[in-house]
Order: sequence, then C-alpha cells, then structure tokens
Amino acid sequence: MTARAPDLVLGIETSCDETAAALVAAGTLVRASVVSSQVALHAPYGGVVPELAGRAHLERLPGVIDDALAQAGVGRPSGELAAVAVTHGPGLVGSLLVGLASAKALSMAWGVPLVGVNHLEAHLFAALLEEPDLAWPLVVLLVSGGHTVLVRMDGPGRYRVLGQTLDDAAGEAYDKVARYLGLGYPGGPALDRAAADGDPGAFSFPRALLADGYDFSFSGLKTSVVRTVERHPSASTEDVAASFQQAVVDVLLAKARRAVVEVGATGLALAGGVAANSLLRRATTAACAEDGVAAHLPSLAMCTDNAAMVAAAGWWRLSSDGPSPLSLGAAPNLVLPDAR
Ligand code: KG4
Ligand code: ZN
Repeated sequence: MTARAPDLVLGIETSCDETAAALVAAGTLVRASVVSSQVALHAPYGGVVPELAGRAHLERLPGVIDDALAQAGVGRPSGELAAVAVTHGPGLVGSLLVGLASAKALSMAWGVPLVGVNHLEAHLFAALLEEPDLAWPLVVLLVSGGHTVLVRMDGPGRYRVLGQTLDDAAGEAYDKVARYLGLGYPGGPALDRAAADGDPGAFSFPRALLADGYDFSFSGLKTSVVRTVERHPSASTEDVAASFQQAVVDVLLAKARRAVVEVGATGLALAGGVAANSLLRRATTAACAEDGVAAHLPSLAMCTDNAAMVAAAGWWRLSSDGPSPLSLGAAPNLVLPDAR
C-alpha cells in the first residue's frame, strides 16, 4: 500500500486582533479552527492598540496552535502535515512578526514547507471554502476593517481589482461611527444591533460616488453623521445607526451589482468582517435573487478573521507557487495580486 501524500495545512493568523490557528485538509475540509479574540483587551481603548495586540499574540499563539492540533487529533510533528501557512501581510507589523516567527520555527522543527499568505487573498478563499464548486467569473466584495475592495475573480489566484476605497474602509467607518454614537466596541456588530431598532429612512446620508465607477469613499459619510447629530442632538441613536448603515449598504451593493453585470459574473460573493453585517447579507440575497445570479454568503465565522481561510489559501499557493523561503518578511502594506 502506498502512503497517502500529506494534505493537511496548519494555518496561522495574527495580522490584527485575532490570534488564530486552523487545520484544513486539501484546502477545503476544516478539521479544526480556533480563534482567540482580543476584543476584551482592546475594548477599554475603543480600538486596537498595536503594542498590546503583538504582546497578546505572543502569549496566546502557542496555546491556540495546541488547541487546534488537539481538536483535529493531530500530534506534533505529524506525517499528515503538508505545510505551515501564515499570514505575512497586510496587517500590523508587530502582530504579523509573531505569527511569522512561530510558523518558521514549526516549519524548521517539523521539516514541512512554509507558505506565506496574503490576508486579502485568504478572505477571498473564505468565500470559496464552504462552496468549492463555484462557477467563474465571480464578483467578490471584500469589506473588512482595513479594506474595501471590489474584485473580479476568475478562479483561485486570478483577481482583477475593479475598485477600492479612496479613504476609510467600510468596517473602519462602522467602527468610527459606532464609537461616536457611544455604541461600544467592537463597533460594527454593535452598530448592526442598534440599527435593527431604528428607521433607515430617518436621515438621508450621502451616498458618495454612487453612480461613478467602482471606487468607494466613506469619510464624508462619517462627517455627515457627526454634523447631523450636532444639528439634531435629540435624534434617536438607533435611527442614526440605521440610516448610516443603509447608506453604506446602498453604495456597496449598487457598485457590486453593476460589476456583476459588466463582468458577466455568475454571482456575487461577500468576504471580510463587514460581510457579517445583517443588512448587507439580507440586501445581497434579495438583490441577487432579483438579478438572477447566485449570492455566496460565507458563514459568520468565516467572514471575520480566522486561520481556516489562511490554511485554504496556503494550500492553493503551495500547489501554484511552491513554498516560501524562510527569509519571508512581514509585509504590512501588501496588496491583492492583480492579474491584469
Ligand atoms: O475581516 P475582519 O475580521 O478584520 C480585518 O481584516 O479588518 O473585519 C473586522 C471589521 C471591523 O471593522 C468590524 O467592526 C466589522 O468587520 N464587522 C462588522 C460586523 N461584524 C464585524 N461590521 C458591520 N456589521 C457587523 N455585523
Ligand atoms: Zn481580515
């Protein structure tokens, strides 16, 4: 009997404020996914404190990796492991370095290849992980705390960036507005919850660049929320939240729908933390049904940062580009590779 080639990838994610490790078989089957959130650590500051994030990754990552290996029933070192995949950018440099150092140490100690993964590409793989039989081309709306990118995807590794934010990312706008409205931290989910009890038509906030190309701008919207609350101090916070959220989702979806038509895409996929937003998910489902194309909504755990998406992207990168050198560095400003 010939031994089966190892197909298990250990994914490691430490680019921002989630310490995560996962084991994924053949790029599609999640055997374990562990995420240790630093929300409580950063909450008193109302945002991620890079210095604290890096230190917390350092303290937590070994335990998180142990938990993932135990959940998957994998010993160390394991003949099942094909590679150690790690996010090397974009993200906070001190946080990225913690994941990279651990991944390199494990790669050397276990004699398995190291694969550097682009965090943005990992988010795109999250959209595929739960639906491996997608029909191309797809339009993917990647909306997170650090990025807002509209991508034409013709398959793994084949991306064309159609547009992106010119200022704040969608998640950043959610977080800043939530903080201004005193809704707590993390802002996106808190604002989502508050908006559920508000009237989305109460205030007419600007929809920047609505009919104009595929780039986004959210900084004017944030300023408009501040002006409106100054002018209407007794306005209901829920109404402001719902009206803000409606403006964000209107712009995101208007552009994504236009892109689906122009590209001739089979569907629209969401990715990134803001893809967990309840209105964006509802509106995407309704819009795609109306347009006769597929809506691909990853599960909530797959939208926000996790290491299963890193392992899945790593498996594909290993087969396409081979291993990364042990000299791989952190790349805080890495962008999505554009196949143009
Ligand atoms: O992808 P992610 O976990 O980390 C980055 O790569 O940035 O995204 C985090 C972002 C944060 O801005 C957070 O507020 C936002 O996603 N977010 C949400 C929701 N859940 C997370 N925004 C709106 N509604 C939500 N339900
Ligand atoms: Zn992310």
